[in-house]
Amino acid sequence: MSSNDKAARRSSAWFAAEGRNGFIHRSWMRNQGFGPEVFDGRPVIGIGNSFSELTPCNAHLRDVADAVKRGVWEAGGLPLEFPTMSLGETLMRPTTMLYRNLMAMEVEETLRANPLDGVVLLSGCDKTTPAMLMGAASVDIPSIMVTGGPMLNGKFRGGDIGSGTAVWKLSEEMRAGKLTEDDLREAEGCMSRSRGHCMTMGTASTMACMAEALGMQMSGGAAIPAADSRRYALAQASGRQAVRLVEEDLRPSKVLTREAFENAIRVNAALGGSTNAVVHLLALAGRVEVPLELGEFDALTAEVPVLADMMPSGRFLMEDFYYAGGLPVVMRELGDLVHREEITVTGRTIGEEIAGAECYNREVIGTLAEPFMPAGAGTAVLYGSLCPDGAVLKVSAADPELLVHRGRALVFDRVEDYTAAADDPELPVDPSTVIVVRNAGPKGYPGFPEVGNVPVPKVLLEEGIEDVVRISDARMSGTGYGTCVLHVAPEAAVGGPLALVRSGDTVELDVPGRRLDLCVDEAELAARAEELKAAGGDGESQGPGAAGAPGTAGGSGEARRGWAKLYTEHVMQADRGADLDFLTGRSGSGVPRHSH
Ligand code: FES
Ligand code: MG
Repeated sequence: MSSNDKAARRSSAWFAAEGRNGFIHRSWMRNQGFGPEVFDGRPVIGIGNSFSELTPCNAHLRDVADAVKRGVWEAGGLPLEFPTMSLGETLMRPTTMLYRNLMAMEVEETLRANPLDGVVLLSGCDKTTPAMLMGAASVDIPSIMVTGGPMLNGKFRGGDIGSGTAVWKLSEEMRAGKLTEDDLREAEGCMSRSRGHCMTMGTASTMACMAEALGMQMSGGAAIPAADSRRYALAQASGRQAVRLVEEDLRPSKVLTREAFENAIRVNAALGGSTNAVVHLLALAGRVEVPLELGEFDALTAEVPVLADMMPSGRFLMEDFYYAGGLPVVMRELGDLVHREEITVTGRTIGEEIAGAECYNREVIGTLAEPFMPAGAGTAVLYGSLCPDGAVLKVSAADPELLVHRGRALVFDRVEDYTAAADDPELPVDPSTVIVVRNAGPKGYPGFPEVGNVPVPKVLLEEGIEDVVRISDARMSGTGYGTCVLHVAPEAAVGGPLALVRSGDTVELDVPGRRLDLCVDEAELAARAEELKAAGGDGESQGPGAAGAPGTAGGSGEARRGWAKLYTEHVMQADRGADLDFLTGRSGSGVPRHSH
């Protein structure tokens, strides 16, 4: 269509209609006080709002939406805000990841079913960002993301503390007897002292940066704190820009190219960002039909050092990152490692956006010549007899001493079994023990929870040992750390080799060699697989976790109904982004049939 052809806009199928249908579509809208002039063919811009008081990280998004609306009106569009599903990391059980695809599906269907020409997506907490991008990418109407911004730095007893990272650290200190429950209560209020999402380089900040690196969020937008007025100016500018995107017909499919994904993957490595970005980027690539394999992540990041000294791997927080110049500086420092011709939602290229970026604090953001950590310290992808379809490990968050390691497995079928045993003074562990936790993958838990950074056994903590090798088919919080092998695929519940490990087996981890192997001969493994099958424990028949209500501690049956049933029947493995098999690809923005 010609870019500014009003009649060809989706919304005109509703609001320009004559007779009965037009009457229906316009009349009810006028109960909100809109005059007839708003139906003159101007771009209708949806504002998808994942605000919820159950998602504290997104609880301020109504204010952000107001700023977006100002921008849409200003540029001559009609803004219409609508609620989306919201996913809050801290409250939802068994895990928000069970619902990421549901939210993506809900966003996709809402966009297509309504008279929207474009959309501004308001996200924040971890899964809300990929879910919205996935839904919008499948519909492929002009879309722009505004993330809600990080909280201000946590401040506790004279020092900075980071969201999530402080939770893991302080609770370990309490287990080691260094802090009391009262100390922890005090820290709660000190850590989360303003609106916004986690201010470590956890999953929320990582995904906000991914949205920017991909070109789906305005340049510089990821790092502005939620409490900073400039976030609202950015939201207003994004509202204006959404109208232009419709006029120029600039759709996600033009932004989300293979090169844009390569940029995002490299930027994630340079940030020491969350392992969860791997899963979300794979899922998003599947939506836009960009070929992308888990195994490519390593090659793409082989030359990328970690430039940002950010918690959980380093020292600083998002507020510092913003004042240092934010993501444009990181992308500029990456030089030729970033594709510069890629178009972004501003209508300008990445190269144009980052050309003027200046660093104001070299302690926070380093250079290629003087990085925070050398190349290869980001997320490593491992393969081997224990993970034929891959596993990941965040090198920057691991103990360098453990990156090449051989040890005996101590195996737990359910994460609850390990948690119950972790403080047992008799737990048969030493510093070389490899803790294996299984049935915590997409299908097995179900929902692929962030339990992969299980606590270090108390007996070891008391000896001053702060890290051990942990292996699971689960994920880990982006704010977590430790030598944790995650996302083992295939997961135990679908019969992956992880299901065959027994306590006492030798496991070999070789991160520089990108290997993870189970040192048990094949005949023995085949015999174990037969035994498991006979016991009905291959997961295809009854995965231990696919039981009762989803993810309940003592379930006893299949995920029988509703979303959890649909999810467990169709979820793909971690190496495919854990999307549902029938949600890959695009659905398009065709106008559906009449409702009356
Ligand atoms: Fe919401 Fe961390 S809990 S972003
Ligand atoms: Mg999380």
